Amino acid sequence: MGISLGLVGLGAFGSVFARLFKNHPLVDRVGLCDREPERVARFAEDASFGDKFTPSDAYESFDEIVNADFDALVIITQPWLHAEQAVRAMKAGKHVYSAVPVVTLPDGDEILDWCNKIIETCKSTGMRYMLGETTYYRPQTMYCRRKAAEGAFGEFVFSEGEYFHDIEHGLREVSRRRLSSKSGQEWVEKRKKYVERGIYGGPMHYPTHSVSGPMSVMKAHAKEVCAWGWQSQDDEGTSENIFSNETALFQMSNGSTMRICEYRRIGQPCREMFNILGTKGCFYGAEGNWGENRWFGIREKTVLNVEDMRESLPDEVLEAFQTSDTTSNIYGGHGGSHLYLAHEFVDAVVHERQPAINAWEAVRYMAAGVMAHKSALKDGETLEVPDWGDAPE
Ligand SMILES: NC(=O)c1ccc[n+]([C@@H]2O[C@H](COP(=O)([O-])OP(=O)(O)OC[C@H]3O[C@@H](n4cnc5c(N)ncnc54)[C@H](O)[C@@H]3O)[C@@H](O)[C@H]2O)c1
Repeated sequence: MGISLGLVGLGAFGSVFARLFKNHPLVDRVGLCDREPERVARFAEDASFGDKFTPSDAYESFDEIVNADFDALVIITQPWLHAEQAVRAMKAGKHVYSAVPVVTLPDGDEILDWCNKIIETCKSTGMRYMLGETTYYRPQTMYCRRKAAEGAFGEFVFSEGEYFHDIEHGLREVSRRRLSSKSGQEWVEKRKKYVERGIYGGPMHYPTHSVSGPMSVMKAHAKEVCAWGWQSQDDEGTSENIFSNETALFQMSNGSTMRICEYRRIGQPCREMFNILGTKGCFYGAEGNWGENRWFGIREKTVLNVEDMRESLPDEVLEAFQTSDTTSNIYGGHGGSHLYLAHEFVDAVVHERQPAINAWEAVRYMAAGVMAHKSALKDGETLEVPDWGDAPE
């Protein structure tokens, strides 16, 4: 028997995941929830949802769906809302899938407080929490985790990861859209209060695409960080972020060094990728059609294609996902990661196990970014990164 899932947040990104979760063979029933009723209607009126959705499972508020009888909630609301909704859902007896990051707020101390609450709520309720981090299931990351498990990197020496996404390359429009809904308008008012208190965030408060590759491959977390910020003259006074770009160096728990860039002003297409260097083997990643993905040993160079790197999904799951697809490429955006994320969460809930990107892993990504931003605010002072330990079984 399968599970029941409530899908909360059917905006741009939630709409991409609605069909995947609905079509998973281990999902029997779905609920649909958004404060914008037409976003629910788009799926509620879609005949292909009729096999697992009934009109009584349409909701216009989080308050309603959190008290309904679903096994789990998939939360793909705006980034400042995730943590509070995740905690409420777990307290109401629901497993949680949350879009990235754990939460983005201007105040780093508040973010760390939410990280703590998520861990404490997982412990006290026994509910599972999974972060929907797309880089974790890029083919490059899957390949490197396999190489790491074989010991092919040797000792890890250095890694570097980046999320380059220029504000003029679609991000300004994304921000405008997220602020235009009811939840967005409420946030515009709340955000003013942070600005009045002189509290500004930075790009490191959305750190997961850059850190999750190296951290998940090396199974290492950040211990210390020093970081610097840079602000474009074009951004001065126009953003709630004090810096346009932030660059950080981390001392990792395995003794290696990790360099991370979160840039929102950069003259190139988007890039979410990483390189990882070890004493026996090194990986250099390439995104999309940009160059080659390369594995090096001391006397070896292998050029890798996506099929070499990607892991397989169970046949029945892949077949069910085929019906979700409206394009010729079922794997789709963010390196084809969406299918893996949806499958991992459903499978973890059904089999009562920790998901791969569980709360303990998720808060390590978030804390690294928060402390990098704090260091940048202190002109590169070296700061310790808090840690909540490894996930229990
Ligand atoms: N690569 C990635 O992992 C990736 C890519 C894109 C977006 N995202 C994440 O996905 C999330 C959503 O982004 P988006 O662009 O779809 O935003 P969006 O604004 O288009 O959609 C968010 C939706 O949530 C709804 N919502 C908010 N509060 C609600 C509530 N209390 N009850 C019911 N519905 C509520 C809004 O009405 C809206 O429709 C963001 O957190 C973002 O960080 C991740």
